Amino acid sequence: MSVVVVVGAQWGDEGKGKVVDLMTERADTVVRYGGGANAGHTLVIDGKKLVTHLVPSGVCHPGKACVLGDGMVIDPHTLLEELGECQARGLLQRNELLIGLGAHIILPYHKLIDGLREDRGAKTGRAIGTTRRGIGPAYEAKAARKGVRMRDLAKPERVRQLVAANLDELVPLILHLGGQAPGQVEVTKWIDDALAAGDKLRPYTGDAGRHVDAAITAGKHVLFEGAQGCLLDLDHGTYPYVTSSSTIAAGACQSAGIGPTKIDAVVGITKAYATRVGEGPFPTEIPGEMGERLRQAGGEFGATTGRPRRCGWLDLPALRMGVRLSGMTSLALTKLDVLGGLGEVCVCVAYQLDGKELDEPPTDPEDIARATPVYAKFPGWDRLPADARDVSDLPASARAYVETIERMAGVPFCLVSVGPDRAETIRLSDPFA
Ligand code: GDP
Ligand code: IMO
Ligand code: MG
Repeated sequence: MSVVVVVGAQWGDEGKGKVVDLMTERADTVVRYGGGANAGHTLVIDGKKLVTHLVPSGVCHPGKACVLGDGMVIDPHTLLEELGECQARGLLQRNELLIGLGAHIILPYHKLIDGLREDRGAKTGRAIGTTRRGIGPAYEAKAARKGVRMRDLAKPERVRQLVAANLDELVPLILHLGGQAPGQVEVTKWIDDALAAGDKLRPYTGDAGRHVDAAITAGKHVLFEGAQGCLLDLDHGTYPYVTSSSTIAAGACQSAGIGPTKIDAVVGITKAYATRVGEGPFPTEIPGEMGERLRQAGGEFGATTGRPRRCGWLDLPALRMGVRLSGMTSLALTKLDVLGGLGEVCVCVAYQLDGKELDEPPTDPEDIARATPVYAKFPGWDRLPADARDVSDLPASARAYVETIERMAGVPFCLVSVGPDRAETIRLSDPFA
């Protein structure tokens, strides 16, 4: 196996950062695909924390190539900040980072429109609960074939024309949404800032698709890092409460420009419970004190926005959908430790809807919201031993919980994570093997 894709199997924040960091040990190249700085991937190594938003979570392994695929939407200022932070730690030297020239640029008006829509949505009950990072508007510009790409930043006149053409259409929208039309001075500054950022990023840019394909052809180990999670996928997630890109494993091919026949294995990551940030149906959400207990125990606050994450029990119908959509060959289970100390642990094994039992969520979000979870209950366990490194170190009830989930999801676990640190992991199999 030399090409492995890692995806979130739920609604994001499953622990992709930790798992990608671990798996990078066995990789030569790590490719972030899809999305932008809406992602926040946390790595904890020897107690020290790093949150990546745009750069791949393999960044802490010197000598490995980190690639940003063409399918991403990149805020150049956020990327420069992140690059500065990494380089201050001695990471991401020039030959270790490659930014796809085809990646689209997030400009200030994308973030402005994203925020205005959310503000308006909060009043009309139609908010998505986005991260306000401009992701949707940047992908809209891309689909409309009006976007500004990384390659364009080398051509100031082209950028000026593109921005003028975009704003010609977008200013009426900004006004309609209750915003103010940007003045010429402001627009000029937006463009100049983007061009200046482009100058600084240029040494890192190139043909990412060919580079990744050549690495695969040379037999190197390539790891694709998904952002968000399968249920936030634009086509197959809980639309309209989704992000604006392809978050399933197929997105790796589309974003990086490689063929599907090149992928050998797909690892899905699931928490031992479920969380969701933003709006949208969440049948296993636990309201009140118990939900708050999970939130505090799991530190469930957004790595990007700091928003409290909604917490609930593990949802197997939703997980099965993720397994199917991404063709997962194994699963990584994270945050098992967080469930320690609860008297009883529940897992949703099916949904009840209109007298029928469903093994996957229905396709209409209103139906998902109406569905009633059918729960299986498990006896709880005390705190997991901090040094659990083998399944046999787990209390019997935690082991039974893990084995049942594995059986009901229909895919074997390749690792079980029992704490945020790189070391706090039970390794079961190597997806590159
Ligand atoms: P990502 O977006 O999928 O990379 O996940 P985030 O970084 O947004 O959120 C996952 C959070 O859980 C981070 O704070 C991680 O440090 C933390 N984490 C990951 N695995 C574990 C685990 O097994 N146990 C605990 N307690 N925390 C974990
Ligand atoms: P990582 O990679 C969790 C959610 C937002 C919102 C919806 C649309 O860290 O798992 P967007 O800003 O993308 O237009 O927001 O998607 N969302 C995430 N939720 N983790 C993420 O990334 C997310 N990225 C977007 O909360 O509901
Ligand atoms: Mg996250």
